Amino acid sequence: MSNPGWADWAAVEKIDPEAADAILAEVHRENAKIELIASENFSSPAVLAALGTPLTNKYAEGYPGRRYYGGCEHVDVVENLAIDRAKELFGAEHVNVQPHAGAQANVAAYFAFLEPGDKIMGMELAHGGHLTHGSPVSFSGKLFDVVSYGVARKSETIDYDHVAAVARTERPKLLIAGYSAYSRIWDFARFKAIAEEVGALFLVDAAHFIGLVAGGAHPNPVEHADIVTCTTHKTLRGPRGAMIMCKREHAKVIDKSVFPGWQGGPLMHSIAAKAVAFKEASTEDFRTYSHQTVANARAMATTFEEEGLRIVSGGTDNHLMLVDLQPIDITGKEAEARLDDVGITVNKNAIPYDPQKPFIASGIRIGTPAITTSGMKEQEATQVARMMALCLKDDSSDAQDEVRAAVKSLTERFRPYPDFA
Ligand SMILES: Cc1ncc(COP(=O)(O)O)c(C=O)c1O
Repeated sequence: MSNPGWADWAAVEKIDPEAADAILAEVHRENAKIELIASENFSSPAVLAALGTPLTNKYAEGYPGRRYYGGCEHVDVVENLAIDRAKELFGAEHVNVQPHAGAQANVAAYFAFLEPGDKIMGMELAHGGHLTHGSPVSFSGKLFDVVSYGVARKSETIDYDHVAAVARTERPKLLIAGYSAYSRIWDFARFKAIAEEVGALFLVDAAHFIGLVAGGAHPNPVEHADIVTCTTHKTLRGPRGAMIMCKREHAKVIDKSVFPGWQGGPLMHSIAAKAVAFKEASTEDFRTYSHQTVANARAMATTFEEEGLRIVSGGTDNHLMLVDLQPIDITGKEAEARLDDVGITVNKNAIPYDPQKPFIASGIRIGTPAITTSGMKEQEATQVARMMALCLKDDSSDAQDEVRAAVKSLTERFRPYPDFA
């Protein structure tokens, strides 16, 4: 089929030059900086093209074959493609691809089974959990009775005996596994056994690592959990959005909770882009990419430790790590600003048992999904870690200039959108 011609960038520039300038500046930033935010990635041109289609126009409340609007025959095909591909990719019995974002997927999944006031048990935010796992500032902490577990002080990894003991005493209705800042493989089978023992449902929020699962570089939570929620835009490299996977027996309650429970019309352009992303994620290239993402994270963690920085829990098994900056006497907040100034984007992050307030933080979180998409391998990942250590340990202008020049030379070779001038 010929190019249908709606992706008319010139029209954006003509109609809204201010928005066009800001959009172009952002694409330039993505090309010109080293992106190490663990939750970010660079979508492919095919995913971006699918997002920018007239499917954004279509109302399709309901599900394929059972819609509340006419004219859904083509978006039905698109949604079924996304569902079937996700089922195949993850071995899921049922998939709902409509959640607009990870937080929405969690709201819908929780309320499929829970009433306000029910007890949920998730990982503490300060130890790597997510806001939606019971933080008092999110709906999850406001509407449910929350019990949390954290990591052990010494190993900085999950203490499964402790989790089991808390679950036995508290008897939550829902046990949540998953993280935003934890660098180790999770024992899903052990969590499932704990949940079964106390009569809880077991939900894994795989937002961060689901792309590694797709690429065979991480154990698959779908084999163990009753429900798996995830985003589609992090390691999975698709459009911003989410999905819910569950056992067949939960299909009806999950679907009803997403729509009409918590959402209105699905974002069909985003679902089309999810379908494209799932197709990409089923390729040999994506397998290679996922394994490379982990290899790059390992290379960076080793290099940081050689440079005298401490990696929380002593290393990484996935796409991210938490770097404890206390040995070099700089806060997370200062480190984030200094790295940004030389062209390296990270986020400050609390480390477990952090003596600093979260807005200052003793650590930074570093992830490799984006630099790996840009083509970097262990050699470059190691170089980036060395440059970061230099930037953080030596605040002289000579050192900062040296790192700035190295960033420029690397991003000229490794950029997500090389065709963008
Ligand atoms: C574990 C986890 N769950 C849920 C979310 C929320 O996703 P979203 O920002 O798409 O709402 C995130 C986002 O970072 C996450 O890390």
